[in-house]
Order: sequence, then C-alpha cells, then structure tokens
Amino acid sequence: MEIKQDWKEKGYVDEAVDASLDLKAEIRRLCREKDAVVLAHYYTVGDIQDVADFVGDSLALAREAADTDARVMVMCGVHFMAETCKLLSPTKTVLCPDLTAGCSLADSCRADDLRRFKEQHPGYQVVSYVNTTAAVKALTDCVVTSGNAKRVIDSFPPDAKIIFGPDRNLGDYLNSVTGRDMLLWNGGCHVHEKFGVDVIMKLRRLHPQAVVMAHLECKAPVLALADVKGSTAAMLAYVRAHPETTEYIVATEAGILHELERAHPAATFYPVPPEVSEGGPGCACNECEYMKKNTLRKVYLTLKYGWPTVEVDPAIAADAVKPIERMLRI
Ligand code: 13P
Ligand code: SF4
Repeated sequence: MEIKQDWKEKGYVDEAVDASLDLKAEIRRLCREKDAVVLAHYYTVGDIQDVADFVGDSLALAREAADTDARVMVMCGVHFMAETCKLLSPTKTVLCPDLTAGCSLADSCRADDLRRFKEQHPGYQVVSYVNTTAAVKALTDCVVTSGNAKRVIDSFPPDAKIIFGPDRNLGDYLNSVTGRDMLLWNGGCHVHEKFGVDVIMKLRRLHPQAVVMAHLECKAPVLALADVKGSTAAMLAYVRAHPETTEYIVATEAGILHELERAHPAATFYPVPPEVSEGGPGCACNECEYMKKNTLRKVYLTLKYGWPTVEVDPAIAADAVKPIERMLRI
C-alpha cells in the first residue's frame, strides 16, 4: 500500500473516521482478520487498555512481545517500547499508532554521547533502563526495567564497574539498595521529575490513612516519603494484595489509575499533582503527553492500513537485542 505523503510527515495515519463506528468492535474485528494483538502500557488512556489483548508494565510488555504467536503487534505505548517488540520479534510486523510518541527519558541519552562516555571510562559495563533507543541498547551490556532492576544489578559481580543510565533517580535508588557506587547518567523523565515532597505532604495531611506509592523514576526525597516504591506493576501487585487498604496517594503517570481502580474498586486513589502546576487548576501535567498520543482512532487506523510499522536498522538490532535477552534470562 502506498503511504500518503502527509501521513508520512505526520508519523501517523490521519483520516476522519465515521462517528457512528464502534471503534472498539472494529479494532477487535481487524485483530482477528489480521492475526494481530494490541499491547498497551498502563499509562495509555483507559479506552485503549480496555480494548487491548494485553496490558502491562515495560517488563511484562517485553515478555509478551517475545512470546506472542500473533503475526502483528500494535504497541500502544511509546516508540522505544515498539522498538523493543521489533528487536525481540524481528519477523513480526510491529505497528506503532503514532511514531512521534517519544520519551523524554530516552531522549536524555544519545548514543553518540554514551559512546564517548564509555571511551572515557574503560573497564566499565553499561546497564541501561529499557527507556532507551535501540542505538543506546546496542552499546549496553544489560537492560533493566523498574520491575527487575535490583535483581539484574545484584547478578553482577560485587566489584563490577558499572555505568547506569539514563535515569539518575532510578540509579540513585539502585545505588542505595544494592550498596554499589554505579556511575550515573544525568537523565530523567519530565513527568516523574515534577512530583515534589510538599504536595505529597499536603495530600497526606488530608488523607492520613492513605498509603503513598511512588514510581522509581521519582526523585530521592519523594521516594523517601513513599510506603511503596516500585514499577507500575509493583504498585498494582501491592493494591491487589491489600484489600484492607482503601486510600492511596499515587506518584506516577495518571494513566495507572484506570487499572488500580479496576483492581480495587472500593479504594480511592489520589493522583499526586505536579509540584508546579504549569497549566493551573485541572492541569494534566502528571500525564505523559507521549503516551496520550495513542488514541482509539489511531489504533483503528494503524490496524486498517498496517502502518506505521517500526523497523530497526539490522546493524544496530544485532547488538541491541543481546542486552534485552540477557535481562529476560535473569
Ligand atoms: P514501568 O512500566 O516499568 O513501571 O515504567 C514506567 C515508564 O516510565 C514507562 O515509560
Ligand atoms: Fe518516558 Fe516519562 Fe513518558 Fe514514561 S512517563 S514514557 S519515562 S516520558
């Protein structure tokens, strides 16, 4: 199929859709017709999580991408997640509803800069968070996600010299729990960096019974306040295991509330607003605008046209898949 020029420029299919169309039913129909599965991260909008075959954190999505029998995967998340799917299943078609769904954290580490840094630090191994481009993964010895980072780092010899990147907050946390002194890359996620202690303390005063949960991408003072620190999946696991707890303060991207509320409908979840509410009252600054580029309309159109596909340069892919496979083995 010839791709329209303006679609190519936009990075996603942009076409009006009949308002009477039941998009969820159409997506399911197209999945059956094309032998496709829809994979969605917890930060995508609730409608996409509801229609997806599989919803998970970065680690679970990578595992699912490696295991699925389907011929086509639609990765509703951000670009590095679609790249990970393609690296793990190179013979499959990986569709990404919007190629411009990037990640500020992945952008904070460019492959050329990491290559230079490695040259300046001979003898160091590189452990990278999964939120990185394939080109950065190709320079990496082992990948981690927030769901397995401690376990993976513990698997390195105690005297191993390690560069960890790109998230300095996660790196800081990992240094503290593993007793290591990893060299940290100075990157961060613009959503998680906005959460601050004052706002959480204020919410805690209002809801003294609430359990505070924070994602490992948050800054150290926020993590120090949290009762539960971990990945999105770790937060969900905690909520499922504690039916007696009915109030939570949640410091991560607001999309996770959809699944948290499904997991424990009787509980109330208070999303932490950012420290500086840039958009004023009602601002959605605790949302990741990249994740929110995934819409039902784009998922439907990407399935209908089989575009945009995500490809990884084979010269990079050969090296980029190794550290992901090493992580999955651990
Ligand atoms: P997890 O899904 O591993 O919790 O990570 C969150 C994230 O930032 C995804 O971009
Ligand atoms: Fe990247 Fe942050 Fe968005 Fe996650 S929430 S995809 S780390 S920008």
